[in-house]
Amino acid sequence: MAKILLTGGTGLVGTLLEQKLKKNNHEVIILSRNPKKKHHFKWDVKNNYVDPKALENTDFIIHLAGAGIADKKWTNKRKQELIDSRVLSANLLYQKIKEYNTSLKGFISSSGIGYYGAITSETIFKEEDQPAKDFIAKICIEWENAANQFSKDNIPVTILRTGVVLSKDGGALKKMNTPLFLSALGKGDQYIPWIHIEDLCDMYVKAVEDQSFNGIFNAVAPEHQTNSSFTKTLGKVLKKFVTPFNVPKFVLQLVVGELAVIVLQGSRVSTEKIKKYFSFKYKELTKALEEIYQ
Ligand SMILES: NC(=O)c1ccc[n+]([C@@H]2O[C@H](COP(=O)([O-])OP(=O)(O)OC[C@H]3O[C@@H](n4cnc5c(N)ncnc54)[C@H](OP(=O)(O)O)[C@@H]3O)[C@@H](O)[C@H]2O)c1
Repeated sequence: MAKILLTGGTGLVGTLLEQKLKKNNHEVIILSRNPKKKHHFKWDVKNNYVDPKALENTDFIIHLAGAGIADKKWTNKRKQELIDSRVLSANLLYQKIKEYNTSLKGFISSSGIGYYGAITSETIFKEEDQPAKDFIAKICIEWENAANQFSKDNIPVTILRTGVVLSKDGGALKKMNTPLFLSALGKGDQYIPWIHIEDLCDMYVKAVEDQSFNGIFNAVAPEHQTNSSFTKTLGKVLKKFVTPFNVPKFVLQLVVGELAVIVLQGSRVSTEKIKKYFSFKYKELTKALEEIYQ
């Protein structure tokens, strides 16, 4: 049994992850900007504050906190918030574990497949590939650098470069299950690396329980889907009409601004590395969606 400090534990992934960790008899403490429960503790990144009680005897930190990438238009202020909420928060945790002499067994962090860039290409990106140069890649690079600083103190670091998380409780599917998104977007040939939320949370649990599972991993399902094939499968499972016309790029740009790039572009990502450690429950999109909408 380990004591785990979870940031972003009130979010989509964190909520299920907390249940799974507790089911495996781990103790979970959540850091939140607005603590609402007994095991929630306050932190305030801008003011360099973490409730000291949250860091007592912590074995692992799982860092999921971050402002929602697709929640608001990307103004300069919002872009800075997307970075700071992930990076300054990790820096603060690093500073605090040193201040309190916390002997961590591991730091486990989310990152995104956006590391490889918001570009459409036939390359199947592997973990050792170079990052892209666009804004999403910049977030991921700084996020991973912040996580990797823990390794300076010989703390094992695990980073999960995550694809689009599929869940019945919200996230991307909630947006996709609307008339605008039940049509192919742009050219429709952009890949959507996806993962069922159960598999993703099981990967985090594995990172706590298996000391050999550290380093950087692509956390996506093995089956490659384009935006067009994904939308068709979603329509089929939902028994909903999928518009035969593609939504033009300019319409998406009008609706969501610069962040349209994250739905208009997308590359394939390799699962070869993670498959050596992890058995997927949901390898195929149809099965994943059927479970979600059953
Ligand atoms: N969902 C996806 O498809 C997906 C894909 C790739 C990567 N990821 C990454 O995986 C992580 C978890 O994803 P999720 O979908 O569970 O996210 P989520 O539902 O948006 O939850 C993120 C949590 O982060 C905290 N947070 C939000 N804004 C913050 C800010 N400005 N400063 C500090 N903390 C803030 C919130 O906790 P409090 O309100 O309690 O403070 C929130 O519950 C995120 O870092 C996300 O970028 C997600």
